[in-house]
Amino acid sequence: MKALQGIKVLDFTHVQSGPTCTQLLAWFGADVIKVERPGVGDATRKQLVDVPGADSLYFTMLNHNKRSMELNSKNETGKEVLTRLIEECDVLVENFAPGALDRMGFPWERIQEINPRIIMASIKGFGPGKYEDCKVYENVAQCAGGSASTTGFLDGPPLVTGAQIGDSGTGLHLCLGIVTALFQRETTGRGQKVTCAMQDGVLNLSRVKLRDQQRLDAGPLKEYSQFGEGVPFGEATPRAGNDSGGGQPGRILKCKGWEQDPNAYTYFIIQAAVWEKVCDVIGKPEWKTQDGYAKPNERLDKLNEIFGTIEQWTMTKSKFEVMDICNPHDIPVGPILSMKEIAEDEGLFATGTMVKVDHPERGEYLSVGCPIKLSDSPVEVERSPLLGEHTNEILQEVLGYSGDDLGRVISSGAVGEAKT
Ligand SMILES: CC(C)(COP(=O)(O)OP(=O)(O)OC[C@H]1O[C@@H](n2cnc3c(N)ncnc32)[C@H](O)[C@@H]1OP(=O)(O)O)[C@@H](O)C(=O)NCCC(=O)NCCS
Repeated sequence: MKALQGIKVLDFTHVQSGPTCTQLLAWFGADVIKVERPGVGDATRKQLVDVPGADSLYFTMLNHNKRSMELNSKNETGKEVLTRLIEECDVLVENFAPGALDRMGFPWERIQEINPRIIMASIKGFGPGKYEDCKVYENVAQCAGGSASTTGFLDGPPLVTGAQIGDSGTGLHLCLGIVTALFQRETTGRGQKVTCAMQDGVLNLSRVKLRDQQRLDAGPLKEYSQFGEGVPFGEATPRAGNDSGGGQPGRILKCKGWEQDPNAYTYFIIQAAVWEKVCDVIGKPEWKTQDGYAKPNERLDKLNEIFGTIEQWTMTKSKFEVMDICNPHDIPVGPILSMKEIAEDEGLFATGTMVKVDHPERGEYLSVGCPIKLSDSPVEVERSPLLGEHTNEILQEVLGYSGDDLGRVISSGAVGEAKT
């Protein structure tokens, strides 16, 4: 049995943020019915196409374990079918532009009236306020949520991160809201509205930078490189390059081969508890007792010199050798892994975090599996559905249409071309 077995999800999501959330629900065992515009579907099916004619990796990697139904929710018969879906489902998830559901004729009040037990979960770019009507994509959220202004180097422009904290991050937040609301429904019997704004999700993940904003009132942020460099702090949390976000100083350092390999680097943290071991490993035993080096606070204005010396050592080793040497001493280091190295990492395949999936249009491809492991609810990653692949079975098995009634719905054009 899967954790969310028996839960039906009306998946009205598209692009990345919403689909991330519903993919997790599907992996946990919910029956996720992706409702897509007839003949068109989620726009990502045809974005960044690498295999002509096939659903893109963008789509396939975000829509595993779902069923797809074509439905024009603006057509009269389509509205009837959508109403039936709302009646049958436990959860409706959507990330349309603000107001789109209202314009379809399905505001929250109407949805609740149709099914008081339903949980309606929405992602929008911004919460209520002056920006609430804006359409928002990943990088806009990273900028509005405080991530971009605090990412990058002090002497460079703000940077967005490679991790999709605005889209996938908000999808994760929403998923937690949904399962929490399902849990509450066990007691109250009522559904509720769950909303998550991408700006809020990014800000939540940038929490430590708001911490630093307030710490600025008490003086310079001593663990930031700029403190040791004598660069004055301004009014806002500055960009900290690759400095560690916590109280333990850390940097990205070059390793052997960095001249040719853009990822021949390691992260290196000089945690206070293992400082003496760091000194021994890099051949600087005198720093263990030397004034200005022995105590953590004394080292903060010398971080460039200290990490420069450690880098002289890491440059003589590969990033994996640094890991092998430092790990037995509990010195926290991490190789900078390229996507190519991750795609070839047998350990990640063994845990199901990386998976190979077969697809009828595109053949085998790699994907990230479920990163959350439940011992009693294992995940089997199944390929994403073709557009409208399950329209007929959902009409019949989930919504109970049959005979002439089924024919009426199919011939109305509300559910796309008839598929056998
Ligand atoms: C992502 C986003 C910018 C895309 O905008 P978009 O491509 O213009 O798509 P929209 O959500 O506005 O939907 C376009 C239209 O298709 C309609 N539509 C979608 N599915 C439909 C269906 N099955 N049947 C009929 N109409 C449908 C919508 O109702 C909407 O119509 P409207 O403009 O008359 O209201 C926007 O959806 C958004 O801001 N979403 C919230 C934030 C978000 O999740 N952003 C990150 C995405 S990764």
